[in-house]
Amino acid sequence: MVQARTMNLRFRDGKVEDAARIADLGRQTFAEFFGQVYKKSDLDQYLETYFSVDRVGRDLQNPETDYRVAEAPNGLVGYAKIGPTTLPVENGKENSLQLHRLYVRETRRGVGVGGILLSWAIDRATERGADELWLGVWANNQHAIGVYESRGFEANGFCDISVGETSDRELMMSLALQAEARSSLTA
Ligand SMILES: CC(C)(COP(=O)(O)OP(=O)(O)OC[C@H]1O[C@@H](n2cnc3c(N)ncnc32)[C@H](O)[C@@H]1OP(=O)(O)O)[C@@H](O)C(=O)NCCC(=O)NCCS
Repeated sequence: MVQARTMNLRFRDGKVEDAARIADLGRQTFAEFFGQVYKKSDLDQYLETYFSVDRVGRDLQNPETDYRVAEAPNGLVGYAKIGPTTLPVENGKENSLQLHRLYVRETRRGVGVGGILLSWAIDRATERGADELWLGVWANNQHAIGVYESRGFEANGFCDISVGETSDRELMMSLALQAEARSSLTA
């Protein structure tokens, strides 16, 4: 099978100029995955709130937020975003970061793109000096939970999120980041 490392893909940081393309990719990948889960009005409300070009543009300008994109010659195929932790974490380390988004286009899944973006998120959070990386994943998303577990993330409670008028359960997961790795990356 073709693997991401041998495909004509470029992995790079997201820039302010990418706002429209990332907003578009964000809407499409979220709808691809959750289109069968939520009713259209809920989905539309969520997409409008979180994936407007304006909102993504402000996010890209925020120095506390980092984006990474996977780019093919004909456009973006995946992205990850990390930033300050907004999950209702109890007993978490003060100095944590959160993986807010990790999405790959349906046609490019299963060949390593998400794994490369996830490695970036862990490395970038470590470089930024975080003690822990948190994430929230839809509690029924067994595939993504398996991917995160394969990288050492552990289940660490639940929280509720709103998608339009629907309230849904998210599993919170966390990964302890290595102090030794942090010091060697900053040395
Ligand atoms: C989850 C998602 C980002 C993974 O991206 P991907 O490109 O398909 O994943 P990859 O092919 O890179 O596989 C990622 C890693 O998980 C491993 N993996 C894949 N399926 C697995 C499973 N069921 N159980 C355990 N590990 C698994 C792979 O071996 C790979 O490990 P490696 O990077 O250490 O080699 C992608 O499937 C996606 O966008 N899904 C829909 C949206 C979503 O669920 N996003 C997460 C929201 S929190």
